[in-house]
Amino acid sequence: TLPTHVTLVEVGPRDGLQNEKQAVPAAVKIELVHRLQAAGLREIEVTSFVSPKWVPQMADNAEVMAGVQRQAGVRYAVLTPNMQGWQAAALTQPDEIVVFGAASEAFSQRNINCSIAESIERFAPVVAAARAAGVKVRGAISCAVGCPYEGDIAPERVALVARLMKEIGVAHVGVADTIGVGTPRRVQKALEAALLHYPINEVSGHFHDTYGQALSNVYASLEVGISTFDTSVSGLGGCPYAKGATGNVATEDVVYLLHGLGISTGINLDALIDAGAFVRDALGQPNGSRVARAVLAK
Ligand code: HMG
Ligand code: MG
Repeated sequence: TLPTHVTLVEVGPRDGLQNEKQAVPAAVKIELVHRLQAAGLREIEVTSFVSPKWVPQMADNAEVMAGVQRQAGVRYAVLTPNMQGWQAAALTQPDEIVVFGAASEAFSQRNINCSIAESIERFAPVVAAARAAGVKVRGAISCAVGCPYEGDIAPERVALVARLMKEIGVAHVGVADTIGVGTPRRVQKALEAALLHYPINEVSGHFHDTYGQALSNVYASLEVGISTFDTSVSGLGGCPYAKGATGNVATEDVVYLLHGLGISTGINLDALIDAGAFVRDALGQPNGSRVARAVLAK
């Protein structure tokens, strides 16, 4: 039987916008967060505390965090790859941080400029500091199914990174199909590998939709009992270190799927579609959500 409630972690402001070439004003990012929380999202990945040389779009991280009018019951998360990122992030009082590693050595090098083993060494003090401050830590496992440099990734690689993250105190892991190559059975295997080390409610799915498989992969994840997914409003995004990768599966499309299955999300689809339309209008881009396009065309 499928879960009866699913939590969606909105990653559009971070994963969605990080790859955007045009400078997006902080005010637009802040307004997007406000609209998302008004639509019922209760977990929002707001920004990342990474090098502005590597990802210029996230250079306004502190300004965006300061500008968000926080709503009770909403968790605001930020990415922190190292102690420098944690120290800057901590000043903005996030509810949650995300350390991001990879199941592929080559991707780890391109994305965070170190090996998998080195990344765990860098994360360890970040995780300890966050836990001491009462901040929850999630870990992202990139390239959990396939890698743009190494090709197919075996589930054992995912299990290894999950175990290493568990050992340093990461509370939750996200199994990420960074380049969207996964198909349902392979995604289930990657999730099951993470589930060797984490309970079912502490494993989430993070699926980019490059090959159009993400919704199928969400359904396949529900079949193994996964009830948390990272999604991106209007399908915003891509990853700067995964050439050609498109955005995460659109939040609107996942909400439509879940509500159609009788699974609650707490999200108001019409308000969510408005949030997606707002940001795509601000960017001057077509909407990447099929559901939003269909509803807006009516
Ligand atoms: P590095 O160059 O190895 O770091 O970068 P370093 O410690 O040698 O420092 C070099 C310079 O970077 C120094 O500045 C530091 O101050 C600065 P300089 O002296 O040259 O002027 N620096 C920083 N500045 C701001 N904030 C920091 C920070 N750390 C160092 N935290 C680093 C290592 C990880 C920082 C770098 O490689 C980086 O920023 N990479 C960007 C990674 C990124 O944002 N990727 C996209 C997000 S992950 C993702 O999208 C995947 C995910 O969605 C899941 C999936 O789909 O797979 C999560
Ligand atoms: Mg991603």
